[in-house]
Amino acid sequence: MPRTLEFVTIYIDDQAVQVPKGANLVDVAKFYADNDIPVFCYHPKMEPVGMCRMCLVELGIQETDRETRQPLCNEDGSPKIRWFPKLQTACTQFTAEGMAVRTQSATVASARDDIIEFILTSHPLDCPICDKGGECPLQNLTMRHGAGTSRFYFDDKIKLGKHIPLGDLIFLDQERCIQCARCVRFQDEVVNDPVLGFHERGRALQIVTVSDPPFDTYWSGNTTDICPVGALTTADFRFAARPWELNEVPSLDPYGPEGANISLSTRLDRDSGGKTIVKRVMPRQNEFRQRNLDFRQNALWAPPQPRRQSPGPAHAPQRRATGPGELGRSAQRCRHCATCSGRPGGRGSWADAL
Ligand code: SF4
Ligand code: FES
Repeated sequence: MPRTLEFVTIYIDDQAVQVPKGANLVDVAKFYADNDIPVFCYHPKMEPVGMCRMCLVELGIQETDRETRQPLCNEDGSPKIRWFPKLQTACTQFTAEGMAVRTQSATVASARDDIIEFILTSHPLDCPICDKGGECPLQNLTMRHGAGTSRFYFDDKIKLGKHIPLGDLIFLDQERCIQCARCVRFQDEVVNDPVLGFHERGRALQIVTVSDPPFDTYWSGNTTDICPVGALTTADFRFAARPWELNEVPSLDPYGPEGANISLSTRLDRDSGGKTIVKRVMPRQNEFRQRNLDFRQNALWAPPQPRRQSPGPAHAPQRRATGPGELGRSAQRCRHCATCSGRPGGRGSWADAL
C-alpha cells in the first residue's frame, strides 16, 4: 500500500519550509531549502552517529501554549522559538512541527571553523598527491572554513602508517583518516560483515581490519567511495589520474545479473597511444533500482567486478596487513590480478571496449 507522507512546517534560517515529518534534518535542508549543511560522518544510506560534529547548528522548537497546545508567535507574527543552549548535530535530528534551525549564524560559523581546525591537526598535507584531491569534502570545507594559519605545533603531529594494503584492492593511509567511521558502519550495517574497526583511542585511533583472508570482500570497494577523505583508496586508481582530468560516462555493470549502475571515469591516456580509456569505475545512484529489486546492495553500492576490470595503474608490489600488530610490515611481492595477466601495467578489457 502506498505510504502517505505527512508534512510539517519547520524554520530554516527564519524561512518556513514544508518538509516530510521525521526526515533527517541534513537531507531536508538540502532538498527543500537548498541549504548544504556540511557533513563528514553522515551518509544518507546509513544510520547517523554524530561523530565528526561538522554539522553543528543552532536548534530550537516553537513554543506552545501550555493550556491550549497552540503554537505561540511573537508580536510581529514570527514563531516564538525556544533555542537549545548549545549547538546540536543536524545529522542526528529528525523533523518535527515547529522545529527551527540556524545554519548561518556567527556561532555556527565559528563552530565549523573550530571543527575543521581540529580535524586538520592530525591530517597530513597530502593533497597534491592524494587521489581524493579535487573531490575531497575536507579540502572543500577547509577552503570555506579553514583558518589559513595553523596554531598547531608541527612536532605534535601524530605520524601513522601510509600505503598499507588491506587486501589486493584497497590501500589505507592511516594519517588521512578523520575517524568518521563510514567504512566501519558500511561493513556493519550494509554488508553485515564487520571486519573493519577502530584500534587505539584519541588522536592515535586507527582503522584496522580483522578480515582473514584480507579485506577483499564483495562490497569492500565501496568503502573507498564513501570515505570522505583519501584514507581508503583502490589499487586500480591509485596515482592514476586527477579527478578534474576525468569525464564521467554513465554505464551499466555488464558482469552482474543485477546490472548495477556505474559511472566510468575516462581520460585521454598517453600510455595507451592517446586513446580514451577508463581510469576508474564508480557506482552511480539509482533509487529506482533499490525500490524494485530485493538486493542487499541499495541504490548506491557497486559490486566489485567492473572496478577490478578497470585498467588503472601498474599493479604495484604490495604489502599486506592483517591486524594492528602487522601494520607496516612489508612483504614485497607483486600480486597480479586477472586483469593485467601478470603484466604490470597491463590493460584490461575496458580499454578495448571504448
Ligand atoms: S578510513 Fe575513511 S571512511 Fe573510514 S573512518 Fe577513516 S575517514 Fe572515515
Ligand atoms: S555529519 Fe553530523 S556529526 Fe558528522
